[in-house]
Amino acid sequence: MSCQILDGRLIARKIQDELKQKVEVLWRERQLRPHLTAVLVGADPASEVYVRNKQSACRRIGMSSDLRRLSASTSTAELLELIEQLNSDSHVHGILVQLPLPAHISAEQVLDAIDPKKDVDAFHPYNVGLVAQGRPKYLPCTPYGVLQILKHSGFTIRGQRVCIIGRSDIVGKPLASMLVQRNSPLGPDYANATVTLCHSLTPNLPNVTREADLLIAAIGQPKWVKADMVKPGAVVIDVGINRTDLGLVGDVDFESVSTIARAITPVPGGVGPLTVTMLLSNTLVAAQHSDLVSIGQCRDQTKDKKTTA
Ligand code: GUN
Repeated sequence: MSCQILDGRLIARKIQDELKQKVEVLWRERQLRPHLTAVLVGADPASEVYVRNKQSACRRIGMSSDLRRLSASTSTAELLELIEQLNSDSHVHGILVQLPLPAHISAEQVLDAIDPKKDVDAFHPYNVGLVAQGRPKYLPCTPYGVLQILKHSGFTIRGQRVCIIGRSDIVGKPLASMLVQRNSPLGPDYANATVTLCHSLTPNLPNVTREADLLIAAIGQPKWVKADMVKPGAVVIDVGINRTDLGLVGDVDFESVSTIARAITPVPGGVGPLTVTMLLSNTLVAAQHSDLVSIGQCRDQTKDKKTTA
């Protein structure tokens, strides 16, 4: 069986072209330009690359962005102060705190402090809760990107057996929660799956993964998923990005798995470009909603002035 390579760059470009048009409409009709502020603490080389990619993607579709760089010795209190400033800055529509944070900073406290309306990563407990209840305001970027790859490649998941390897808060848990819903913002064909969420203590893991029509790897272990863990004809989505001596590799052993799978995402060039793209999409939504609030505020102010006069 020949294996289809799911080109994330191509899909990302298509979605970004659509977003660019929506950004232009927002500017034309409301003189509003979506703005993303990225916060980078320390100088982790991988995080530097991710943040740079996010900023250049913003530029490409006509959004503005800025980067707040803080030293690795920044305290939780200092970072919380910055978050407060960004929360109350009406020019900032989306706030992204690049993870991981240095170990001495409480990531939980920091993410909890972001205004849920500006939480374009969908990491705040309020947004996590809405996703879990099936009524999201924002979808977390990587899981949202996985759905977009499936949709743009013509694969549906309704009634499919899905196995996710990895129970992280960023990918595994929210993705499992999204896929079992009755519906999704992309339609019911991108929900209604039977989901198994596996992790390091799952017994007989290959027996479980081999049951899956759709296998999603998000564990951060280079080339960990081998061909004997995959059902022949399954669709395989590789969320991993691992830096090795051989360069960037995924969580899936691409060479062996692509001989047995029906379709597979490459690394790089698979899920990564979609994660960035869905961040842009969430930032656009944040700006669209903030405008409604600010129009309301403007009207209120006008009313106040008239009353005073
Ligand atoms: N670090 C790895 N992935 C992500 C992500 O999606 N968002 C943020 N903020 N940090 C990350």
